[in-house]
Amino acid sequence: MNPGQTQWSAIDEFLSGSLLGSDPVLDGALEASAAAGLPSIQITPCQGKLLQILAQLQGARSILEIGTLGGYSTIWLARALPPSGRLITLEVNQQYAKVAAANISRANLSSIVDLRVGPALESLPSLVAEGHGPFDLIFIDADKETTPDYFLWALKLSCAGSLIIVDNVIRKGALLDDKSTDPAVRGMRRFIQLLGDEHRVRATAIQTVGAKGYDGFAIALVIGDADLTNEKRTGMSADRHRDL
Ligand SMILES: C[S@@+](CC[C@H](N)C(=O)[O-])C[C@H]1O[C@@H](n2cnc3c(N)ncnc32)[C@H](O)[C@@H]1O
Repeated sequence: MNPGQTQWSAIDEFLSGSLLGSDPVLDGALEASAAAGLPSIQITPCQGKLLQILAQLQGARSILEIGTLGGYSTIWLARALPPSGRLITLEVNQQYAKVAAANISRANLSSIVDLRVGPALESLPSLVAEGHGPFDLIFIDADKETTPDYFLWALKLSCAGSLIIVDNVIRKGALLDDKSTDPAVRGMRRFIQLLGDEHRVRATAIQTVGAKGYDGFAIALVIGDADLTNEKRTGMSADRHRDL
């Protein structure tokens, strides 16, 4: 059989059924999101589990997410945190945020999750001004054209040891198209170039297929000084960060 969308979706379903099992809270979040008319553009269950495992490997105590939608990836990530942990998630759409808040509440994660409504490029400077960061893990999954800016903000809110993950970088292969007029493709091309030129990270990107089609993600480990001061790095999670 030639691999294609039908097979990728079937295999994703098989893997979720075999490795993840059913989860009423996460399934309920998807149902509530669909019932409220949210677009089905969240990560897949297998991708959610991958994010959760990466957060656990990080020993994450602080997570920043840019792009909440109905809170599906938020729940996967927040479940990797200890009760004293904190996840800040940024969403521009009021209606989506309302649905996400209800989903997060049903997952009993409201005490850990701080959901902020507004354009991320306005929320991110506020996070810096309020003294948040460094974050152990930052997941970037909002409007794709702004990804380069989000990555630069992520660096500001990182220190050595932070992990930055960016979703949807391959865009069905359109990443290769240097003539593309699609703002999302152009944003991802600029981001990949920025990532390649950035000496403060050790980075790679992986192509994926699955229920959401052909796409991929980039992952960057911050290895050098990001924009935080030494004093700042001795803050929230600094005891587990080290010079890499
Ligand atoms: C792909 S969805 C996020 C999916 C979510 N991370 C998940 O997997 O469950 C992208 C989200 O980013 C939000 N978004 C778009 N532009 C934004 C902006 N400027 N600031 C904050 N959020 C934005 C959209 O409203 C949408 O909910």
